Amino acid sequence: GVEQDLIGKNILITAGPTVERIDPIRFITNRSTGKMGYAIAEAAVKRGANVTLVTGPSNLTPPAKANVIPICSAVDMYEAVKSHMDTQHIIIKSAAVADYRPETINDQKIKKQEGDMSIKLVRNPDILLELGKTKGDKVLVGFAAETNNVEEYAKCKVERKNLDFIVANDVTAKDAGFGTDTNIVKLIDKYGDIQEISSTKLDIANRILDKAKEFIK
Ligand code: C5P
Repeated sequence: GVEQDLIGKNILITAGPTVERIDPIRFITNRSTGKMGYAIAEAAVKRGANVTLVTGPSNLTPPAKANVIPICSAVDMYEAVKSHMDTQHIIIKSAAVADYRPETINDQKIKKQEGDMSIKLVRNPDILLELGKTKGDKVLVGFAAETNNVEEYAKCKVERKNLDFIVANDVTAKDAGFGTDTNIVKLIDKYGDIQEISSTKLDIANRILDKAKEFIK
């Protein structure tokens, strides 16, 4: 069996995409499947943690013992995370949160019109940035999906969002990123330590939990 080294630890994980509605029929979303976040939730449950999984729409089956909170939009995710954050030892933000949402959600289907149209988008809250402002003793782990300058951008995010470490991946690499079972990531911590891991998402999930555990005060 798996070593029960996370008994008594409360771990909140966000996973999947967010869905930002335009009207009853249309929405803006992204390619996240939730695989990495669900793998972390599964690994944490197996190691005995109390897991809260705040998840955008995903076809995956969450671990039976997790407290699953399904959400759609970034604003919904923010509310769910806020209402559970105070009791957590570790928060891992693997969700692909939309940076923008349509300014208004139309009650009725928007009809086509002559010529072009545009939809005004407004900024969503940066959930991780907000969590970093009142971090306290919580361990805060972020994700960074990049196409270039992976380490540089990731290091900036660790500092700007007040994280303990970040899981950075190059989404252009083969066998890595959205929808794959394997991944190549760099764990970059606030002390500048960098650890590269190329493995299955479940193995990477366990390595992320190992490192998060080291940061618990
Ligand atoms: O700045 P960037 O979006 O690349 O940062 C990614 C990290 O920030 C991820 O951990 C993601 O879950 C989190 N994030 C968030 N709220 C947003 C955007 C990103 O929590 N609105």
